[in-house]
Amino acid sequence: MAQKRKTSGTDSKPTAVRRIIAKYGGQTRAIIPILQDIQDRERWLSSQVLEEVARELDVPLAHVYSVATFYKSLSLEPRGRHICTVCMGTACHVRGGTAILEHFERRLRIRAGQTSPDREYTLERVNCLGACALAPLVVADGRYYSQMTESKANAVLETLGRRSERPHRNPSGAGRRR
Ligand code: FES
Repeated sequence: MAQKRKTSGTDSKPTAVRRIIAKYGGQTRAIIPILQDIQDRERWLSSQVLEEVARELDVPLAHVYSVATFYKSLSLEPRGRHICTVCMGTACHVRGGTAILEHFERRLRIRAGQTSPDREYTLERVNCLGACALAPLVVADGRYYSQMTESKANAVLETLGRRSERPHRNPSGAGRRR
């Protein structure tokens, strides 16, 4: 059964984590949306944040870590403001996915799995996004771009660059890590 959040008599100003937990009534069963909301806000889940969630929900830290590591949309490392995901599944690979990934790596000056030093971009590779007919496929900030080419990739990056010039909440991908 879900537990209500324990309140601390010494709590002062509510932190962002506490506000998010309060939004879900302090329910431990809401741990996934709680972590997702924190991730949306912070772009990642630091060890301090996970400790605070465990403390506030009164659950073992190991449980919070197990949830945070299970879901692919949750990251224990800093992520960029923009997430570019290049599919490297079989269909995308045979239709030029490798060249597309290398093009993104060159343009962003990072390798797949890395985040740019300014935390603007994270580049990821995945094995099949489930839309093989659209190969080669790239997902940028949650939007699918089919039949990707290098010139289309340049246009996508230009669009993302323009978005960086205004306030933006980082969308997160969905799905489990395994
Ligand atoms: S292999 Fe890329 S979407 Fe399936």
